[in-house]
Amino acid sequence: MAENRTIPTAKSVPEFLGQISDSKRKADCITIFSLFLILLVWRTPVLSQETVQHDRVHPGFSERVEERERMVKKGIAGYPYHPVKDPLVLQAMRRVPRHLFVPKEYRKLAYRNSPLLIGHNQTISQPFIVAHMSELLELEPEHRVLEVGTGSGYQAAVLGELCNHVYTIEIVVPLGRKAEKLLKELGYNQVQVRIGDGYEGWPEAAPFDRIIVTCAPEKIPQPLLEQLAPDGRMVIPVGRQFGTQYMVEVTKDRKGRISQKQHYPVRFVPMTGKSEE
Ligand SMILES: C[S@@+](CC[C@H](N)C(=O)[O-])C[C@H]1O[C@@H](n2cnc3c(N)ncnc32)[C@H](O)[C@@H]1O
Repeated sequence: MAENRTIPTAKSVPEFLGQISDSKRKADCITIFSLFLILLVWRTPVLSQETVQHDRVHPGFSERVEERERMVKKGIAGYPYHPVKDPLVLQAMRRVPRHLFVPKEYRKLAYRNSPLLIGHNQTISQPFIVAHMSELLELEPEHRVLEVGTGSGYQAAVLGELCNHVYTIEIVVPLGRKAEKLLKELGYNQVQVRIGDGYEGWPEAAPFDRIIVTCAPEKIPQPLLEQLAPDGRMVIPVGRQFGTQYMVEVTKDRKGRISQKQHYPVRFVPMTGKSEE
């Protein structure tokens, strides 16, 4: 074979050319296959090394399980305009005992798909909104997540079901203290609560892969944009208290360039503190 290839006779030229094109085809195939492999490795996200522990033992987790299941089926996965599809978010919504985050007088209503009063003129958000904002964040277990507006602590608990590093800030002192105590009792040890003005973010813990804001500023606070990591994502309601507010998704690319996408109109309590100045 080798001799035929090196010294082709007139007769064997077509055979020789056939061999060349055979081996050329093989080489081409190998090159294309190698390029394909390189592309595959390059585009495949590195699989998360971390997992979130769900071995919480508080009896509240086994109470009212069927009501939570119905809430998820009808009001979240079955929400007519924006059904939430992320299975991990749906699982988190099934797990967290919302009735423990609302005042006793509203516990009966805890699994309706509506916001409820939690005192100090503040509210716990509608379950659909909690789930949809969590879905928009595209969370991974290893993400560092900042929440502005702890309120009852419910959204922080949902985040605690999805990732291992949650930082949440509340400006109303008794709300922040109460939420911190409940989150500890329920076993959300990876959620850190701070009392303060979330407009400023949490500089010592920054940068954050994800930021979620559950009160509405008129403009996105600059410190939050700065504390968002490259490749980061923020979900925030923006607009005036009695005007139109929109759910906004902010992304920062690897080079630090910011883009925004406006989703549906919403109604959130205003961001107080420095945001109002
Ligand atoms: C709709 S409620 C939050 C709901 C909460 N995420 C939950 O799951 O219960 C909005 C919260 O944002 C808080 N808030 C308003 N302005 C704030 C600010 N500048 N910094 C931190 N929290 C703020 C309010 O006190 C209120 O508790």
